Amino acid sequence: MKALVTGGAGFIGSNVCKKLLENGDDFIVVDSLVTGYAENLQFCDSDRLHRVDIRDRERLAQLFQGIDTVFHLAASVGNKRSIDAPHFDAEINVLGTVTVMELARQAGVKRVVVSSSAGTFGELKTLPISENHAVEPDTPYGASKLFKEKFCLSYGNLYDMDVVALRYFNVYGPNQRFDAYGNVIPIFAYKLLRGEKLKIYGDGNQTRDFIHVDDVSRANYLAASVDGANGAFNLGSGTRITINELVDILQKISGLKADIEYVSRRPGDVMHSMADISKIRDMLGFRVSVDITDGLIEYIEWLKFEIDR
Ligand SMILES: NC(=O)c1ccc[n+]([C@@H]2O[C@H](COP(=O)([O-])OP(=O)(O)OC[C@H]3O[C@@H](n4cnc5c(N)ncnc54)[C@H](O)[C@@H]3O)[C@@H](O)[C@H]2O)c1
Repeated sequence: MKALVTGGAGFIGSNVCKKLLENGDDFIVVDSLVTGYAENLQFCDSDRLHRVDIRDRERLAQLFQGIDTVFHLAASVGNKRSIDAPHFDAEINVLGTVTVMELARQAGVKRVVVSSSAGTFGELKTLPISENHAVEPDTPYGASKLFKEKFCLSYGNLYDMDVVALRYFNVYGPNQRFDAYGNVIPIFAYKLLRGEKLKIYGDGNQTRDFIHVDDVSRANYLAASVDGANGAFNLGSGTRITINELVDILQKISGLKADIEYVSRRPGDVMHSMADISKIRDMLGFRVSVDITDGLIEYIEWLKFEIDR
């Protein structure tokens, strides 16, 4: 495979690149470094990274030569960011996606794996959430991710191209920095290690489905390798824990006592979330391999190293 990874210097993208390198595949990265870091790619040659914005059609077009597979991860990420700056969110997630897909089509790309989000579902109506659950996003981010997914899938229908959209639930793991867009694990782990107060929105009984980034990068690879794979797939662990339980695990692992403040719920936050992952298991052969406690032990170690350097 000769892959182009948009957003490859970001948290999940850099882990996808690592998987490509491990499997001996050739790849290049397109990333504006707005939230990504060149150092996330220190395991590979620096000339693979092209500091290009996906909205820059001309510069991007030059990079598509010889590419057969695209992993499209670049995005403006997060509910809060999209509420604060909806135009910016749409420019990247909507218009940027149109540019990436048009260039992929023109270059004769055969396969696209696009990072979608459980944010496309909105408030939960049934649990676990299957791919057939209603998609009624509550935020501009959820809506732009839904556009992104549907737009990419439409190219799979129209052209000679296999397109897989992976709807990630809550992803965590190495390269996820504490200044990330409001993801609970990096924020809580960072604050706990620094002795700062943890703010829990609501009573802490809301649930989330956390999946380790190793599993997410493996699923991306499967989506690009399984013959004839097409369509939208949930990608979570298929389990859920409450935010209070998450804090308990973090306290046990670190041996530290958290200073917790409960505050009112935030707009756009769903109460419960858990993926039905039978489709990705049956059609792509995906299995979850990282248990939450083991994953958090590894993450805390990574974060301690990051804080100390
Ligand atoms: N982390 C999660 O839990 C989660 C959950 C659901 C979906 N996702 C999706 O996964 C993908 C990766 O997210 P992440 O968590 O790694 O976030 P991230 O911010 O670390 O990665 C996004 C990357 O895209 C790059 N980027 C942003 N705008 C760009 C542009 N205009 N041109 C080129 N590059 C640009 C950033 O610099 C960054 O490296 C995103 O599409 C996101 O919506 C993530």
